[in-house]
Amino acid sequence: MSDTPAAEGADVHSIVTKLQAIHKSQILKDEAVKIETLTLARKLVAALEGPVNRATDLVFKPYISIAARIAVDLDLFKLISAIQGVITSEQLALASGGDKVLISRVLRLLAAVGFVEQPGRETWSANETTRAMASAPIAAGHSFDVLITSAIKAPKFLYETGYKAPSEPTDGFVQYANQTKYNTFDFLHSMPSLFQDFNLFMGNTMGAREYWHEWYDVNGRLITDFNSSIGSTLLVDVGGGKGHDLLAFDSTFGSPPKHYEGKLVLQDLPHVLDGIAENELDANIGKMPHDFFTEQPVRGARGYFLHHILHDWSDKYCHVILKNIRDSMVPGYSKLLIHELILPDTGATEIQARFDLVMMTFNGGMERSRAQWTKLLRDAGFVNIKLWEHFDHDGIIEAERGPATEVE
Ligand SMILES: C[S@@+](CC[C@H](N)C(=O)[O-])C[C@H]1O[C@@H](n2cnc3c(N)ncnc32)[C@H](O)[C@@H]1O
Repeated sequence: MSDTPAAEGADVHSIVTKLQAIHKSQILKDEAVKIETLTLARKLVAALEGPVNRATDLVFKPYISIAARIAVDLDLFKLISAIQGVITSEQLALASGGDKVLISRVLRLLAAVGFVEQPGRETWSANETTRAMASAPIAAGHSFDVLITSAIKAPKFLYETGYKAPSEPTDGFVQYANQTKYNTFDFLHSMPSLFQDFNLFMGNTMGAREYWHEWYDVNGRLITDFNSSIGSTLLVDVGGGKGHDLLAFDSTFGSPPKHYEGKLVLQDLPHVLDGIAENELDANIGKMPHDFFTEQPVRGARGYFLHHILHDWSDKYCHVILKNIRDSMVPGYSKLLIHELILPDTGATEIQARFDLVMMTFNGGMERSRAQWTKLLRDAGFVNIKLWEHFDHDGIIEAERGPATEVE
C-alpha cells in the first residue's frame, strides 16, 4: 500500500498557503492565532507523513508514553536537567541504578520526539520539555498510570458488556482492570502512592493555562454584587482538591487592597483536606469536609464553583450533586459556576475528544457539549444558563436556581 502523492501534494500546498497567511507577530500574542497555527502545523505533519504511515505508526505510538514512564521512574529527566552541560548514559546508569543499555534505548526514543537532546553518542542534555518532565507534578501525572493501564482493557470490557458506554462509577474500565468494586476515587484512596500522585498532578493540572478568573468577568459577575446579609460566603469550591483554584483566586483578588468581601470555602472529602498542611492555605480560605452527594451545608453563597467535578460523573450522579447545591442556592443571587470543557458539536480538538475518553475511563464520566450542558442543567432545575467559552480548553457554565419544579 502506498500514499497518493498527488493528493498529499495538494494538502501540503493548501496548508502551507494558510500558514503563510498568518501574521507571524500574532502567533505568540494572540491565543486564537496560536491555536490555529498549531492546528495547521499538526495537519501539515499529517499530510507530510501520509495516511498509510500515520495509520501504521499509530500502532506503536504508546511506546513514547512507556519510554517517558520508564524515564520518570529512573528520574532521568531530573538527572539530565540538574546538569548544566551534558551527561552520559553511563553516568545516568550510575546515578539511577538502571542499566546503561536500557537507558540509552529509552532516551533515544525520547530524543527523537524532542523530550531530551542528544548532542553526541550516548550523551544527553536537557531542553525545556526535559525540564517540564522533571517537575514533580508532571512526573506524578506520568507515574499515575491507572487510567492508561485500565483503558488498555477497555476493548475486552466493552466486548463482554455489549459495547455500552460505562456510566456506573463502580463498574467501568478501572474496576474491570483492577478487579475492584470501589469507585475510582475510593480505589485511589486505598492505594496511597497512587493517590498521592493523583493529588499532586491534579493540584497542577492548569499547566501553563490561564486561571478562570483571568478571563471570566469575576468582578462584574461575582464579586460586585456580593451581599453579606444573604450569606457570609463569596465562593465555595466544591470538590476543590488541594485548593489551587482558591489560592490563585485569593492571590489575585485578596492581596491588599483586598478586592472582595466574604469567605472562601474549600470543600472536599475529609481525607483530601487532611492532606493539606495548615501553611498551604491562606488565612482567607476555610477548609470544610463535605461529601457532595449529601446536603450542601453552605447556604446562600454568592458562587458555588465546580472545577473538573461533573465530568467525573454520568448524568445520573450529576443530578444528585446538582440538586444538593441547588437546594442551598438563593434564587436570583447565588450562581453555579461549572468550570469544564464545552465540546463543540462537530470538530472537537484532539485534547477535548481525548479527555472525554479519559473521563469515560476514570469514573464512567464524560465531557459534555453545549447542548448536553444546557440539558443537564435545565433538567436539574437551573435557569439563566450562560456558557462562556475560552479557546479549546475549559469554559464556564453559569446558572441560577430555578423555581421549584417537577425535578424535586
Ligand atoms: C478531578 S478532581 C478536581 C479537583 C479540583 N476541583 C481541581 O480542579 O483541581 C475531583 C475532586 O472531587 C473530589 N471528590 C470525589 N468524590 C467526592 C465527593 N463525594 N464529595 C466531595 N468531593 C469529592 C476528589 O477528592 C477530587 O479532589
